[in-house]
Amino acid sequence: MLDTIQRIIHREFELSTASQPSSSESAQEIGRILRGGVQTAAQLMAALGVSQPTLSRTIQSLSSTVTAFRVSGDRTPRYALLRQLPLGLHSRQRIYRLLASGSMEPFADVEFLSGGSTLERIGSVTRMYEGLPPYMAFAAPSGFLGRQLAHDAARAQQFPSSLKDWDDEHRVAWLFTRGLNLPGNLVFGDASLQMEIDLRRLDPTPMSEKAAHYVAMASALKGAAYGSSAGGEQPKFLGMTEGSGHVIVKFARLGSRMAELLPLEHLALRSLAEVDVPSSSTQLLTSGDYVFLEVRRFDRVGKSGRIGMLSAGAVDDEFFGRRDSWPEFAARCEKAKYLSAADARRVDTMAAFSELIGNSDRHFENISLLIDEKGEYAGIAPAYDILPMRYASIGGGVDPDLTPIAPKVGTIGAQPAVWARAAQAAERFWTAVQTETLAAQIPEAMRQLAATNLAVAREFVAPLLPAG
Ligand SMILES: Nc1ncnc2c1ncn2[C@@H]1O[C@H](COP(=O)(O)OP(=O)(O)O)[C@@H](O)[C@H]1O
Ligand SMILES: [Mg+2]
Repeated sequence: MLDTIQRIIHREFELSTASQPSSSESAQEIGRILRGGVQTAAQLMAALGVSQPTLSRTIQSLSSTVTAFRVSGDRTPRYALLRQLPLGLHSRQRIYRLLASGSMEPFADVEFLSGGSTLERIGSVTRMYEGLPPYMAFAAPSGFLGRQLAHDAARAQQFPSSLKDWDDEHRVAWLFTRGLNLPGNLVFGDASLQMEIDLRRLDPTPMSEKAAHYVAMASALKGAAYGSSAGGEQPKFLGMTEGSGHVIVKFARLGSRMAELLPLEHLALRSLAEVDVPSSSTQLLTSGDYVFLEVRRFDRVGKSGRIGMLSAGAVDDEFFGRRDSWPEFAARCEKAKYLSAADARRVDTMAAFSELIGNSDRHFENISLLIDEKGEYAGIAPAYDILPMRYASIGGGVDPDLTPIAPKVGTIGAQPAVWARAAQAAERFWTAVQTETLAAQIPEAMRQLAATNLAVAREFVAPLLPAG
């Protein structure tokens, strides 16, 4: 019996080796097949007419261009071709994480695959993403600063100078060669890690030089001395100051509509904080021809510590793919246990408050989630970018008329506790707009409008408040 089995195995082996293509033919063929996308071992063996051992040997000889992996929860081994990246960047990379203490540790190993997907290995868990993982898409350049960064990158290396022309490969190449001081706590690759270490040697701007420094930054927009990326369309730069630590500084030229709205952003965030919705703390300054709103970064701790964050957009794209409205997003996150009920109500309150102050700009990059050091969601990030955007310039020097707000219930629905809290914040906000003296002036027309808007908000919200 044993004899027979051995003979069969022997014959099988002879047959299979006799009919198999040579190893280098197989290698070429594997390359050709994998260009069409990821394949399982079985698919490759069938296509090539080779045995498992031959396949394994050939794959091993191709280890610089082909990767073998098994996605966690899936038994099937798969193979994929590694992608050629711009700037000769290696398609296998390491991502690091900066902790609140300032220490650095490895976070994930990634491989960029032909066809555009990305393989991520964190400990023993392997995942595959179509395109880029959400944290990478989130950290890549976007908005006003992103356009400056694209321009700078194009002058130094082979990047398209308009951000509109960037694809995922440019984003990856940028993150792993120039990605410094990014939102959140990730550092992409060894070159960026070195730059982060070098960045620590830079001193904060002393209080006595801050105003002059801000004016210089605004006038020249020198491309942000502290590097990189914060999304959003409003002109801004990043900085680190003696008094406020890491900041995002939004600015506008005196006399422009945006210069009138920056004090309102300051008051809106303060009003939200007063009803227990954590909000970014801001400071208003006027210097030279500019108004500055200095926003303290909640993703920074002291000079070198970091806190993880992801925009609602990045979270929604990964798990839900909806990007509908803040309350609907909050409800989904509450159900999936990414957010506590208390945090979900905070998001609802931000939305309700936005209705009561004419903040029409409620896209999914304007709220974020914090991420703790175990990689778990750790609550809603402090509020930012909440202001009466219905009055913001629409570009080309065109400012909308100062018409009263027109609040709607929308997807917030009838939630008496939420509306009561939002109403309280709106009450404080529109009152402050009428009465407060700040470092930047609120024009008389805006103060008058605030009185009208307060009346509109009160009337609108009355039936939504708790009975009695
Ligand atoms: N206090 C903050 N801490 C950390 N990141 C922030 C803070 N405020 C804003 N951001 C990030 O910067 C981006 C741009 O800021 P934002 O105020 O939304 O500017 P814009 O008005 O141009 O949209 C936000 O989308 C968010 O990712
Ligand atoms: Mg924004």
